[in-house]
Amino acid sequence: MQLQGKKIVLGVTGSIAAYKAALLVRLLVKEGAEVQVVMTPSAKEFITPLTLATLSGRGVVSEFFHSADGTWNSHVELGLWADAMIVAPATAATIGKMAGGIADNMLVTTYLSMKAPVFIAPAMDLDMFAHPSTQRNLDILHSYGNHIIEPAAGELASHLCGKGRMEEPHIIVEKLKDFFLADSPLKGKRLLITAGPTYEKIDPVRFIGNYSSGKMGFAIARECALQGADVTLVAGPVALKTPHSSIRRIDVESAQEMCDVATEEFARCDAAVLSAAVADYRPSEQAVQKIKRTADNMRIELSPNPDIAATLGKSKRPSQLLVGFALETDNAEANARLKLQKKNLDFIVLNSLQDEGAGFAVDTNKVTIIDNDSRVEYPLKNKAAVARDIVAHLKKLLLVCLMMFLPSFVDAQELNATVTLNTSKIQGTNTEVFTVLKDGVTEFINNRKWTQYEFEEHERISCNFTFVVDSYSDDGSFVCTLMVQATRPVFGTTYSSVLFKYEDKGIRFKYQPYDRLEFNEDNLDNNLTALIAFYAYMIIGMDFDSMGELAGSEYLNKAQSIAGNAQNLGDSGWRAGSNENNRYTVIDDYMNGAMEPLRRLMYRYHRLGLDTMFKNADGGRKIITSCMDMLKEAYDNRPLAYVTKLFTEYKQDEIVNIYSNKGGAEEKKAVVRILSEINPSQMDAWDSIEKSAL
Ligand code: PMT
Repeated sequence: MQLQGKKIVLGVTGSIAAYKAALLVRLLVKEGAEVQVVMTPSAKEFITPLTLATLSGRGVVSEFFHSADGTWNSHVELGLWADAMIVAPATAATIGKMAGGIADNMLVTTYLSMKAPVFIAPAMDLDMFAHPSTQRNLDILHSYGNHIIEPAAGELASHLCGKGRMEEPHIIVEKLKDFFLADSPLKGKRLLITAGPTYEKIDPVRFIGNYSSGKMGFAIARECALQGADVTLVAGPVALKTPHSSIRRIDVESAQEMCDVATEEFARCDAAVLSAAVADYRPSEQAVQKIKRTADNMRIELSPNPDIAATLGKSKRPSQLLVGFALETDNAEANARLKLQKKNLDFIVLNSLQDEGAGFAVDTNKVTIIDNDSRVEYPLKNKAAVARDIVAHLKKLLLVCLMMFLPSFVDAQELNATVTLNTSKIQGTNTEVFTVLKDGVTEFINNRKWTQYEFEEHERISCNFTFVVDSYSDDGSFVCTLMVQATRPVFGTTYSSVLFKYEDKGIRFKYQPYDRLEFNEDNLDNNLTALIAFYAYMIIGMDFDSMGELAGSEYLNKAQSIAGNAQNLGDSGWRAGSNENNRYTVIDDYMNGAMEPLRRLMYRYHRLGLDTMFKNADGGRKIITSCMDMLKEAYDNRPLAYVTKLFTEYKQDEIVNIYSNKGGAEEKKAVVRILSEINPSQMDAWDSIEKSAL
């Protein structure tokens, strides 16, 4: 409802088309707009103020002063009040006065004071419309930024045929809606809505389900579509029609099906609203035939279903929003707040079955919208109106997101890599080949789409690949050390935190100038790009882990598989000889179950710790302090301890900075004790934390 609550000034002038103003007022009011009619004196010859006042529900303004008591109508206030002004019909005379600034009536003075966009729908005879003077005036008004709604061609009041007939009221309303739609924060946004119940089959004729009708979710989907969003509605078994023609609907039955579809769809969405009532359990087994009645009691064993909201919450990117519902019967608000946190939601819509008229199947609902900073309780309303409240809150948060992520340039790239080639060790040989190689490698990394996601420019991970060439022979083979470092942006700030730092020695490659740099997972023999792909996936996987616990598995698995394939190729691959801790062991150890605390720590440290720290220094630091126990837990799983050591090494400066002159004595002591145990070689740095003033 783009016009819902919009304040419209409708200027009516003296034209035979003035009768259409009555219809226009009705349509605007029906769309939820507040309409204030302003008439020129001659307009009253064509339609009575009483008609327009009755239809708009507001007194018509026409004169500067009320003759009865001398009070005056404020055109300035109207100019500030309105969200838009429409002049329909607009005669040649009024158009001329508007273009020339001749403020001899209330309509033109209101126009000159108008702060809101102005729409002009001319209505006149064809020759008057075609006259250069009218056209020039319209050009002038257009140049002032006013919107001209071109008249239609057809039979005119003069019985002549041609262009000059005021555009039909419903088309004027559509144009106004389009205008506000273009302004809508939901325009073009991709939204995922889940709705309805899920059915969990017991046998071919029975299921476990619930009373959800889908009405709430369908109302939200409709509202989003009306506001220009690109909506995907994932619906459980409901008896409702798709509420808007632009909505893409996917019907599912079980929680698992809903989860599969939602997970896939969410990756390409800007936000999701999860209003479905998802069954938390399903029968562990489904009987193939109808279960027959017996005299005995019957037990059905249940297995847990996936928690869709929590799954999406884990993979959520900083630019995405996730909205959940909480349907409660007791302890409503405390439970809702718990779900908000546990499922990593941006806000939650609480409805309680304790409230009459709220919840399942009814046409009304009573909700409280809760996020980390606010709580708004709404009265009982119909579900369409509740949907408007929810969408209004979503839009507010989307705007905040938009502001945080501007400017956004999205293309097929997620890594911002720089490549450095250090050839100082092979001086005297022809190093030109490396100049070509450097450009090729940079292009390969930056132009490749490593994930299915579209990342905003400032969300991308910066990384540096430095090759130090140890030896080179004319057949194109060379041995080098590769140093890889990646930094991830801290949410909502310009600060970047080191994500990964690793040095890989004794790598053998073969490269002839202008060899095509292609990555082919099936052929990793002596393949330079396979090694780069390995590190790219490793970095992306770790970054995803930092966005949601263990969320990077998909990419880390790819890295692991590349490493495994290359390992199998033996010396002809890009294996690193007998290095004790090489890239194979790094990925294996990071993915190993024993390293799970470290993987979960990536999320806690970056997302909850650093991201919070920039809003709340003490709160963020305390979360990072709690990460130290996870680090210790991973460290205690020797012989994998070196990965935790690696972590403390690349985070060293950051950690020292976090605790220098900050935090309590006990807190610092505990942190330093763990760090010193894990990485005694950095004792000086850890000491400096304890020595720093409180
Ligand atoms: O469909 P109607 O008849 O109009 O009724 C509307 C409604 C009452 C179903 C709706 O307003 C509502 O409250 N929906 C959420 C119902 C619910 O399952 O609440 P919950 O508190 O159990 O779940 C919390 C959140 O986690 C919800 O967003 C839910 O979609 C989600 N969830 C729950 C379980 C699960 N396995 N996966 C989930 O994603």
